[in-house]
Amino acid sequence: MNTTGMSTQNTVMVFDTTLRDGEQSPGAALSVDEKLELARALEGLGVDIIEAGFPISSPGDFQAVKRISQEIRGCIVCGLTRANRGDIDAAAEALEEAPRPRIHTGLGVSDVHIRHKLHTTRDEALERGVNAVKYAKKFVEDVQYFTEDAGRADPAYLHRVLQAVIAAGATVVNIPDTTGYTTPEEFGALIRGVCENVPNIHRATISVHCHNDLGMATANTLAGVVNGARQVEVTVNGIGERAGNSSLEEVVMALGTRRDFFGLETGISVRRLYPVSRLVSQLTGITVQPNKAIVGANAFAHSSGIHQDGVLKERTTYEIINPRDVGAPDSAIILSARSGRHGLRHRLAELGYALDEAQFEKVYQRFLEVADKKKAVDTRDLEAIVEDEVQVFFEETFQLEHIQVSCGNRSIPTATVRIQGPDGQTFCDADHGSGPVDAVYRAINRVIGEENELIEFSVEAVTEGIDAVGRVTIRIQANEPVDGGERPVFSGHGADTDIMVASAKAYIFALNRLIAARREAQMSRSPDCG
Ligand code: KIV
Ligand code: ZN
Repeated sequence: MNTTGMSTQNTVMVFDTTLRDGEQSPGAALSVDEKLELARALEGLGVDIIEAGFPISSPGDFQAVKRISQEIRGCIVCGLTRANRGDIDAAAEALEEAPRPRIHTGLGVSDVHIRHKLHTTRDEALERGVNAVKYAKKFVEDVQYFTEDAGRADPAYLHRVLQAVIAAGATVVNIPDTTGYTTPEEFGALIRGVCENVPNIHRATISVHCHNDLGMATANTLAGVVNGARQVEVTVNGIGERAGNSSLEEVVMALGTRRDFFGLETGISVRRLYPVSRLVSQLTGITVQPNKAIVGANAFAHSSGIHQDGVLKERTTYEIINPRDVGAPDSAIILSARSGRHGLRHRLAELGYALDEAQFEKVYQRFLEVADKKKAVDTRDLEAIVEDEVQVFFEETFQLEHIQVSCGNRSIPTATVRIQGPDGQTFCDADHGSGPVDAVYRAINRVIGEENELIEFSVEAVTEGIDAVGRVTIRIQANEPVDGGERPVFSGHGADTDIMVASAKAYIFALNRLIAARREAQMSRSPDCG
């Protein structure tokens, strides 16, 4: 990373907003511990700025920004605010212990936002923005100003706003295409216009923040960079509001792979791209589409005979990136039960997993079970096992011990479950349902009794073949809010060669998250708890 926290002519700062805009994806809500884990992974990845949350928006967001500010030393930590004192006070307090804090404030600049959302005039909106920057400057030196919906704004007004907020002390000006409306040519011209028409622009870094409503977010971000932007606002896997944000891995790899064209550097450790992508997918429950550039399961798969032939003769005939350079697995590497602890440990290290002894032992036992059923365990199976066994960042109140399902075309689907609860007590119950998964969920409900609505259920084969490990991802919505706002949604995932076992694990995972979130909310309401 650029240790000064300032962009130079040939470096581009990477501003990661996975924890703020990314977490706004429906159902992606993360606990404070999960956000902290992700922040550590982003620091390891080498992002320059972590937008850790929107502190005024909920006690959970405030806590997350505070904990990340206390722990993360290698990045600027940023908190989002609207252009008002209450929001800025909350962000300043949450960021207090960050070594390099940044407040990100701003408001709309398009007429549609000024009229219909802010119910004000251009002049009043400008004055409110300037006052917000001046107020934020009382707490931190580094103030970033966002001009929401700049993509649809009158450029002359945008230039006026930018000049005024820079004069008031903004160090970074963020030009968002909030609705993903512009084309790369238009967005590039917008940034060029800012460079040419804002007299004091040399005193600030230009940042670009593009949404993907028309699938042009990455192209627009790069067009912004070509025309003078030196900060890119991105999320891992491109998650975010609606169709998402510009994807970190796409922007970084475009800049790196086409250095000959862009002539620019970032501080990202690209070998961490794939492991961080997996972590984000697992924590948010948002699966990565198989054909997603850089991190999708098929990004480096060659299926046509002609392509396979070419790649076997010379990899670069059909690959512009070596999968190993971005930490993506080489699926050809197969392990079996005979590989032993040493072989497994070696392969896990190659994949970038740093497990302690207890975690390794859990993974090894699961690996043996899968190897017993499957004979050949490839990288994707291993990833599913590690995600299932290790990457849990909340207290697991309930654990699945045993499940038995009976079903068929002439029988009533029935499930029996045995679950270990708090204090090690074991509960056993059974129920029937409209199908085997329904029966499993009903039986679990009889034990755990946590009211919720199942809103999504998906099964994906992690590997090919009849003996593949299946990964189940589900989303449940709590029947009531946990910390005052809306009814939260929790995702859960489970992997096993038996889909019923994977389904039960996924459901218990999501229920445990719901229970942990309620406990966290109760603790943050309790006056005795710091
Ligand atoms: O898309 C957008 O305009 C935003 C701002 C809050 C920066 O996310
Ligand atoms: Zn956004």
